[in-house]
Amino acid sequence: MSTKSPKDFFKPLAVGAPAPVTEIPMGPSRMIHFFPAHNAKMRSKVPDMATKVDVLLANLEDGVPADDKEAARAGLLDVGRSVDFGTTQFWTRVNSLDSPWGLDDLVASVTEIGAALDVIMIPKVEGPEDIHYVDRLLAQLEAKAGLTTPILIHAILETARGVANVEAICGASPRMQGLSLGPADLAANRRMKTTRVGGGHPDYVVRDDPNPDDESAPRATYQQDLWHYTIARMVDACVMHGILPYYGPFGDISDGEACEDQFRNAYLLGCVGAWSLHPAQIDIAKRVFSPHPDAVAQAQRVIDAMGDGTGAIMLDGKMEDDASVKQCRVVVELARSLAARDPELAGAYGFNA
Ligand code: GLV
Ligand code: MG
Repeated sequence: MSTKSPKDFFKPLAVGAPAPVTEIPMGPSRMIHFFPAHNAKMRSKVPDMATKVDVLLANLEDGVPADDKEAARAGLLDVGRSVDFGTTQFWTRVNSLDSPWGLDDLVASVTEIGAALDVIMIPKVEGPEDIHYVDRLLAQLEAKAGLTTPILIHAILETARGVANVEAICGASPRMQGLSLGPADLAANRRMKTTRVGGGHPDYVVRDDPNPDDESAPRATYQQDLWHYTIARMVDACVMHGILPYYGPFGDISDGEACEDQFRNAYLLGCVGAWSLHPAQIDIAKRVFSPHPDAVAQAQRVIDAMGDGTGAIMLDGKMEDDASVKQCRVVVELARSLAARDPELAGAYGFNA
């Protein structure tokens, strides 16, 4: 149990480092679009991609071959120096803290292009001690680089110990921006017997009882969601600490339908976005993590009908009260914040009129 005073959490961890933030920016981050930073062809697409996504992330970790780690770091620096991201967020995923590259990734990104970076994603976070380490190091590096705003930390939840420590991880620093589920590493670490990157599995089912009148009759099975427990736990931990939960990667790029289902389950449970690993997944994330115009219109009807937001009314045969109007406000506030950056969406919601 730490004996640090709550007041001290908002003091910089190094002389000359910027003051920690007291609120996490809640701007749109429906998709965190990954590009492999060592790949020159992918890097050349970054200026165009930046106009199409909410977050663009230069990946240095898994997916980048060991021999290309230095080229990836150089690619990140090149993009950070040369691309104007406008209002799109620019993130990087560095190598893990126990790897031979993690330290150099952190030092180079903060000291060379720190002012261009919004968030650093730290993979394979196991407990609050990992965040404390990065927190102090970032403060030292920010001071050295003369940065005036702190770089935020996003952790990937992809080990069993990380899941067991999830609340402590979320609360480990004012820099904590959010968490993503890392289903591939988490499955391996837990010794789950799947070989996929996210999504369901046809063998994870419940089965109807036998038919008492016909024991040989086929029994229907219903596929269950392997990730429900972890996503729900992650959402509670994030909300408890005022930070943002995300679903991570969906590896079967050819199966847009199942990707959409996985993203939508995460959206309904409270996630604000997911990773996109291919341009085809950008539109899926945009569709799923932006509330449907009909849902926004219905939520606005309830808000309008509820007046000051207290008491109970009947609308279309349904009871609405203080609690249901709060859910409606979540939907309308999300729609407004997305529309502020997306005129097409603003039009679909009728916010321009
Ligand atoms: C993501 O990094 C994962 O392991 O799923
Ligand atoms: Mg991983």
